[in-house]
Amino acid sequence: DKYCVIMAGGIGSRFWPMSTQKFPKQFQDILGVGRTMIQQTYDRISKLIPKENIFVITNKEYIELSHQQLPEIPQENIVGEPLMKNTAACNLYMANKIAEIDPNATMVALPADHLILKEDIFLEKIELAFELASKHDYLVTLGITPTRPDTGYGYIQFVDKHNSDYYKVKTFTEKPILEIAKSFLESGDFLWNAGIFIWNVKSIHHAFETYLPEMTQHFTACEYNAESEKSCIELIYPKVQKISIDNGILEKAKNVYVIPADLGWSDLGTWTSVYENTEKDENGNAAKLKHLLTYNSKGNIIRLKNNSKAVIIDGLENYIIVDTDKALLICPRDHDQLIKDYVLDLKSFK
Ligand code: GDD
Ligand code: MG
Repeated sequence: DKYCVIMAGGIGSRFWPMSTQKFPKQFQDILGVGRTMIQQTYDRISKLIPKENIFVITNKEYIELSHQQLPEIPQENIVGEPLMKNTAACNLYMANKIAEIDPNATMVALPADHLILKEDIFLEKIELAFELASKHDYLVTLGITPTRPDTGYGYIQFVDKHNSDYYKVKTFTEKPILEIAKSFLESGDFLWNAGIFIWNVKSIHHAFETYLPEMTQHFTACEYNAESEKSCIELIYPKVQKISIDNGILEKAKNVYVIPADLGWSDLGTWTSVYENTEKDENGNAAKLKHLLTYNSKGNIIRLKNNSKAVIIDGLENYIIVDTDKALLICPRDHDQLIKDYVLDLKSFK
């Protein structure tokens, strides 16, 4: 059968102060469209996968929030992790749980916080991926045509262009430095990894055994969908390596395939990506405020918790302004990748 795992354990610190540890961005309506990011993710995939087969894996701190936002999903499908160990661990955990239900299952792992404008293409490509992954020992990912040398993404070099629907992956490079990202972009042989993965539980188990044997060993200590599962997971998690599925598996595996997909995709990872995907006034200021006066100002994004506050800006270009009850951020748009470092500096981050 087909299963889905929504990965929702990140804290989105590049979206501080709107996204905080208590209330991370996947649980917020970042674009102001009426549904939160995780709800939009669920809405999309539930057109293909029955809700009984949709799981959410998140930090145990966010279980309640996940229930509230996704009441359609059976309670036991919302799974909590005791610690943040990045995406390798959560994928192995869920593959184990799903394999216990159906040893032949094929699963898609979805990030909880992406914007996808072309839903029909998304569903079509996911169906193709399920078909490939159920027939072959393939680790399948979706690839996006890159538009800038972004260092926040994984880069996929592909071969076999004669087949136009999907390519074999030659190299996978997670988050390269800028010079390398530039050369990848120029070469034209690369796609961005969309962070969406499709595989048979057998294939991913095999990959974990090969490339992360220690982690695999820890996880075999537990019995899944059993009463002991939770306490066993609590015991093993402190010992589990903190590594992403990209670094841990995809960079190393030889059986990775990519489906190029024009999804109208943005990972909404930064304020700039939100700026690009929201409505702007004639001066290119993105702000949905009742009382805003702008003079000689353009290219700014302004978000306030209290939308009725009056704001006046003069002589400001390409800035991010975010105001909440607890914090105020003012920073140039092209420094948006640094916000997560600012947050680390701000030790009292809550
Ligand atoms: N359950 C759980 N536990 N989920 C997690 C954890 C964790 O410890 N860490 C991250 N996640 C969730 C996040 O909430 C997000 O939905 C997803 O997993 C991906 O994690 P990110 O932290 O956002 O990854 P990234 O954006 O730096 O990089 C990934 O996505 C890029 C595309 O957006 C990689 O796959 C890149 O290769 C890719 O280009
Ligand atoms: Mg991300």
